[in-house]
Amino acid sequence: MKIQIPTIPSSEITPQAVFENRRQILKLAATGAFGFEMSQWFTREAHAQANPPTPNKLKTSPNTNYVILEKPTSYKDVTSYNNFYEFGTDKEDPKMYAGSLQTKPWKVSVEGLVNKPRTFDIDDLLKLAPIEERVYRMRCVEGWSMVIPWNGFPLSALIKQVEPQTSAKFVEFTTLADKNQMPGLKSNVIQWPYTEALRLDEANHPLTLLTLGLYGEVLPKQNGAPVRLVVPWKYGFKSAKSLVKIRFVEQMPKSSWMISIPSEYGFYSNVNPEVDHPRWSQASERRIGDDKGFFAPKRKTLMMNGYADQVASLYAGMDLRKNY
Ligand code: MTE
Repeated sequence: MKIQIPTIPSSEITPQAVFENRRQILKLAATGAFGFEMSQWFTREAHAQANPPTPNKLKTSPNTNYVILEKPTSYKDVTSYNNFYEFGTDKEDPKMYAGSLQTKPWKVSVEGLVNKPRTFDIDDLLKLAPIEERVYRMRCVEGWSMVIPWNGFPLSALIKQVEPQTSAKFVEFTTLADKNQMPGLKSNVIQWPYTEALRLDEANHPLTLLTLGLYGEVLPKQNGAPVRLVVPWKYGFKSAKSLVKIRFVEQMPKSSWMISIPSEYGFYSNVNPEVDHPRWSQASERRIGDDKGFFAPKRKTLMMNGYADQVASLYAGMDLRKNY
């Protein structure tokens, strides 16, 4: 008979540094400095987990006003469980096939109802504003969520540069659609190029990020390199990847999802546990990496993904059941 020696998988052993950090937290909880110090701790914890395979560092500094106090999703999960239909519809497809995306050179044209239209390359964007690290909760319309340390700057910094005219009410985002680089374009799941849009005040909101990295390194291709949008109080599909055009317009644009499945996707798409998707409930979610297994209890989805304090005023007086 063979005797089985039990082993503990390395993933279950808490590294010393992380363990020490946890002790530090308990001490802080006993003092007053909890909130600020906690946000710093979460930033450090995020990096302790990162261990990116090909370090391609960005110079960033944490903005502790925008660090949520939840455990960040591992770098591995953030970069291997993705939606990026230009590379296929399975969650593993983007990581497998996005290698063909050419991110250099890259240009983003900013045009439409602005006084100073301009084309930015990535170096221009990196010079536009300090790159911050912000840890945001992200909720996909499909019912899963992650906590991601993004690196970017408020989109408002770019908007200021181009000086929108008073008639500009909406901002439309167009992403790359190139058959030679993106095998997923062969399928007609949605209308290409993938487009999204925000109202100008949503685009100018301090939470809305133009994002160039995550976990302190340049954006991996599967996450929307070299530049994407991140809008944490809306379902993940509003956060368009691999942006090539930003256009200021007067009328509300129709996004690719609104055109492809109008009965399911509206313009606002704010996370709202009280408004079901026509085919499933939006009341709860599964946190990728943490809520393991089919029978694990799901967590309650928060109104506006937990950012209601900061953004609810944008929708004052609107019926959010109609304006989903
Ligand atoms: N952007 C483009 N260009 N194409 C896409 O298919 N998918 C969206 C959004 N942005 C998508 C996109 C959806 S449905 C989600 S949930 C998020 O990207 C996922 O971002 P992540 O893979 O970095 O988590």
